[in-house]
Amino acid sequence: MHIGIDIGTSSVKAVLLDDAERLRAEASAELSVMRPQPGWSEQDPDAWIAASEAVLGQLAAQHDLSAVRGLGLSGQMHGATCLDSHYKPLRPAILWNDTRAAVEAATLDRDPQFREISGNIVFPGFTAPKLAWLKAQEPQLFAQLNLILLPKDYVRLWLTGEAISDYSDAAGTAWLDTGKRDWSKALLTATQLTPDQMPKLVEGSAASANIRPAIAARFGLPKTLVVAGGAGDNAASAIGLGVVNEGDAFVSLGTSGVIFAATQSYRPQAQSALHCFCHAIPERWHQMGVMLACTDALNWFASLVNQPVVDLIERLGAVPEQGSDLLFLPYLGGERTPHNDAGLRGGFVGLSHETDLRRATQSILEGLSFALRDNLEVLRSAGTDPRQLLAVGGGARSDFWLELLAYTLGVPIARPQDSALGAALGAARLGRLATNPDADLNDFKPKIERLFEPKADLQASLEAGYRRFREAYAGFRAL
Ligand code: XUL
Repeated sequence: MHIGIDIGTSSVKAVLLDDAERLRAEASAELSVMRPQPGWSEQDPDAWIAASEAVLGQLAAQHDLSAVRGLGLSGQMHGATCLDSHYKPLRPAILWNDTRAAVEAATLDRDPQFREISGNIVFPGFTAPKLAWLKAQEPQLFAQLNLILLPKDYVRLWLTGEAISDYSDAAGTAWLDTGKRDWSKALLTATQLTPDQMPKLVEGSAASANIRPAIAARFGLPKTLVVAGGAGDNAASAIGLGVVNEGDAFVSLGTSGVIFAATQSYRPQAQSALHCFCHAIPERWHQMGVMLACTDALNWFASLVNQPVVDLIERLGAVPEQGSDLLFLPYLGGERTPHNDAGLRGGFVGLSHETDLRRATQSILEGLSFALRDNLEVLRSAGTDPRQLLAVGGGARSDFWLELLAYTLGVPIARPQDSALGAALGAARLGRLATNPDADLNDFKPKIERLFEPKADLQASLEAGYRRFREAYAGFRAL
């Protein structure tokens, strides 16, 4: 049996799978995000531990855990968890969707070695600029900095006592030599840091360390339990979906929106704001476009109008009948791909007396789909043109949205049977690979529950909508 734990932004989720990959138990615990200033996004690292304790407790209450051999971790990427010499957090973690370090990011990005070695733009959400911000704004904390960990690796520290990360997550720091799969001393030096302030690195599918005996005893886990390297949440979702070979791709409709394509070689294209990171298995990389507010924008609207998201979506009916005349730009906290603009903000264009909840909700789903189309166009310009996208994340539960997305992207979208398990499923598989390296990756291809085809009827009106969306973006940018 194997356990996967995903440290998300809005919750920690865990799954227990048996050796035939049947789901034996699942658990989740909510997390909240603190936004103490505009553009800031923080979480208490110990809230991840409390939530991980809660989900392990829930799994243990549902099933005997004594036969679990491997555990994999997945997590929200890029978060800066700054620890002192006692491995205690110096401050709340600064998360992936925090844009306070925009100036520091632009400064680092002007140093050509960052794009050259890391293969990526230094985005404000990445880890390195956050540390440059800390040095400038909280120098007394920077002086006490002993270790920097990513969110899931802080949970690993609790589970195993070891400071270790994996290449897929480390690639999102801006300190990794992504082609060579190693920390870059030059990039660390450029932010006044040294390799001994960084965790050791392993492949996502390799063993990282054994569980601490006290934790094993507490949850009834065997003392021999191996914790795998694990992965950033997107690479972990890819493992959950069998997206491992050239041509395999998925779209994730989670807090962030992602279009992810696996590659068998290292092919960065930083100038287009494409992300190029290591995959969670050896000798594989991936390209990815990331929009910052996907279901996050939908949740924002739901709380604004004080309605549950499911009710808003239900109001839309089963299939989109026509494109909306209202445009929504989802840039609530700036954007990464394709704009790399922390100061960009969103809006509605075309409000009228006819705008009601149903039309406004549809326009939000359309705006999110148009922004994902922008991401797909960037991938296409990098020579990656997926013929089908698997769909994951909370948004993938909506038939209406997947139908709309298939029209907007012009690509068939396949919803797997287990789309809700997402990154936690991939993490559990990495736990399995760490204990059984001979497992066949081709067995990881999911069963498809439903295919959404881009039919011709709505495509023309959505294509026109996409053009208006691009024009509206240009107008907003100028404001
Ligand atoms: C990826 C990214 C997000 C987070 C969300 O670069 O920032 O997808 O990983 O959890």
